[in-house]
Amino acid sequence: MKIAFVGKGGSGKTTLSSLFIRHLAAAGAAVVAIDADINQHLGPALGLDEAEAAALPAMGERLPLIKDYLRGTNPRIASAATMIKTTPPGRGSRLVRVREPNPVYDACARPVELDGGAVRLMVTGPFTDADLGVACYHSKTGAVELYLNHLVDGPDEYVVVDMTAGSDSFASGMFTRFDMTFLVAEPTRKGVSVYRQYKEYARDFGVALKVVGNKIQEQDDIDFLRAEVGDDLLVTVGRSDWVRAMEKGRPPRFDLLEEDNARALKTLRATADATYERRDPERYTRQMVHFHLKNAESWGNERTGADLAAQVDPGFVLGENIGEDAGERPGEESGERRGENAGGLLGEDIDADVEAGADASVSAPA
Ligand SMILES: Nc1ncnc2c1ncn2[C@@H]1O[C@H](COP(=O)(O)OP(=O)(O)OP(=O)(O)O)[C@@H](O)[C@H]1O
Ligand SMILES: [Mg+2]
Repeated sequence: MKIAFVGKGGSGKTTLSSLFIRHLAAAGAAVVAIDADINQHLGPALGLDEAEAAALPAMGERLPLIKDYLRGTNPRIASAATMIKTTPPGRGSRLVRVREPNPVYDACARPVELDGGAVRLMVTGPFTDADLGVACYHSKTGAVELYLNHLVDGPDEYVVVDMTAGSDSFASGMFTRFDMTFLVAEPTRKGVSVYRQYKEYARDFGVALKVVGNKIQEQDDIDFLRAEVGDDLLVTVGRSDWVRAMEKGRPPRFDLLEEDNARALKTLRATADATYERRDPERYTRQMVHFHLKNAESWGNERTGADLAAQVDPGFVLGENIGEDAGERPGEESGERRGENAGGLLGEDIDADVEAGADASVSAPA
């Protein structure tokens, strides 16, 4: 499951992301935590000290490695240099999974021990003024978007992304990559205006969006949010002494988190989990192609000197099951699966790909 926490600066994205990650880890779920926010605070919120947080490898500085790995043997992507952040996977591409070891995790992820088990943490790296200016090409979040677009994830495994509600995520299509987006809002006009803007972008793309009210102090705060966002208000979180203690560098055991807040986290997980049944791989793939073509036309073709529309593999759908078979258990069961899906396969070399253990999954387009 892919889950984003977005919202206004200072609303509590990092705090709530970190609590949710701790909640998942305590329940024994597999988690990749990603800090894609302008202010990189997720590491410290998960308990890393300053030196440990500073030593985290930046995904943004490892883009060539990430691209080279994900590109695999996809013949439509001539080189890592022509791979932009929206370049979609196709036959021959390598897909990534939450639990596996792979070179992307080796280079970019570090384990963080939490009550209940370790999670993998990846960070984009700090943003500079230059990143924010030339949002498209240099954006650090491009590495995260490539990762998400090559990710095959099932239930009980989670990628949790702490990110801004900024314009770059709208331009690139990043905001459409999640099963569930939690918009963290304080009960203020500004908090709610970020919600409105997000909702507006999200509307045409079927983005599942819920509001998490944060720093709630009184009933009037809840009434205000309810009046402004209606049924999109999922849960509210009050000021937490547990969080205050954590910020002082003395996090209590996670099972000592206030009961109300623990219950709110449970609701977040249940709400995210409930979206699993509604997943539509074909729509998901279509959206990534849509944003790729948009980015290709608006800057990518010119920047790379290539026709990036040709990177789209028309017969490819990023689907969960066939991808898993192709990647994790080549040989085993794959004959049966291949038989089942044979009618939907559009390409010539699929069997060869599966045989070779290639990680691409293929099925019929919409
Ligand atoms: N429920 C809460 N209880 C107590 N303190 C909180 C709570 N939520 C957030 N805070 C505090 O508010 C401050 C801002 O929260 P946080 O850093 O999570 O926001 P953010 O949206 O990630 O901010 P930024 O945009 O700067 O990344 C932090 O000091 C955090 O500890
Ligand atoms: Mg933050």
